[in-house]
Amino acid sequence: MSTTYRSEDWQRYRMDYNDPHRVLEPLEREIDVVAAALAALRDAGVLPHTDYDQARMLAHRLAVQELFEIPWTAITPRMQRLLYAINAIARPAHLIAAGVFCGFTLVSNAGAAAGPGICYAADDLVGVEIRPEEAARAERNVRRLDPSGRIRVLAADAVEVVKAWTRPIDLLYLDVDGFGGKGKALYLDILEAGYGRIPPGALVLAHNSVNAAEKLKSYLEFVRDPAHFRTSVNVVLDGEGLEVSQR
Ligand SMILES: C[S@@+](CC[C@H](N)C(=O)[O-])C[C@H]1O[C@@H](n2cnc3c(N)ncnc32)[C@H](O)[C@@H]1O
Repeated sequence: MSTTYRSEDWQRYRMDYNDPHRVLEPLEREIDVVAAALAALRDAGVLPHTDYDQARMLAHRLAVQELFEIPWTAITPRMQRLLYAINAIARPAHLIAAGVFCGFTLVSNAGAAAGPGICYAADDLVGVEIRPEEAARAERNVRRLDPSGRIRVLAADAVEVVKAWTRPIDLLYLDVDGFGGKGKALYLDILEAGYGRIPPGALVLAHNSVNAAEKLKSYLEFVRDPAHFRTSVNVVLDGEGLEVSQR
């Protein structure tokens, strides 16, 4: 089954990609919108509950602000909170984030299991970035926040990494674009490469379910087909969107 959660103001809620930390709304409003999105995911059976540690989330956000070099990003504060909360609640043992650019999207997911936002112990937290210079930047950023080395960055093609993966994939985050001409169509290639290692109950998150919906058409058809995924929820709390699919 596929459903949609839409905040009533998603079209008015806008960020400046070059100013990632700018406050866009009162914190209470951001918390409420994300809480409503988490409730929709709970109601769809994707999450067991909606509780996560607010203080740890803010500690995580402050550390990223202080320590990360982010040239630009389309991850809004709402999306950052949503990614952190989904991971804090679902607690994936093995995380793969594909197309992590400077590492911000990777740490928005993995920050629930490493650094000042840590709230559970994961077995492996991996980010994959095909451009070596961006992978190196992601590695520098992540290492400042997580000196313990819990989070790994691989300079590689995510299709190949997922294909060669032998353990379960408990959460797969997809955000590849702009390399080798295939762009967002690569989401489906990566998913198909790892599909057999995604166990029942595991989550696949796809950024840009709204503003790249046309380019993601085949991907969205695949995850919204009950033959492939138990359920899929399009979470529309900003202009980018996040498709949350559960096997
Ligand atoms: C545009 S960025 C995502 C930015 C992110 N949405 C944000 O707002 O911070 C997408 C990244 O995917 C990377 N990429 C493209 N193809 C890839 C592949 N096959 N494997 C791994 N990374 C890839 C690109 O190099 C790029 O850094």
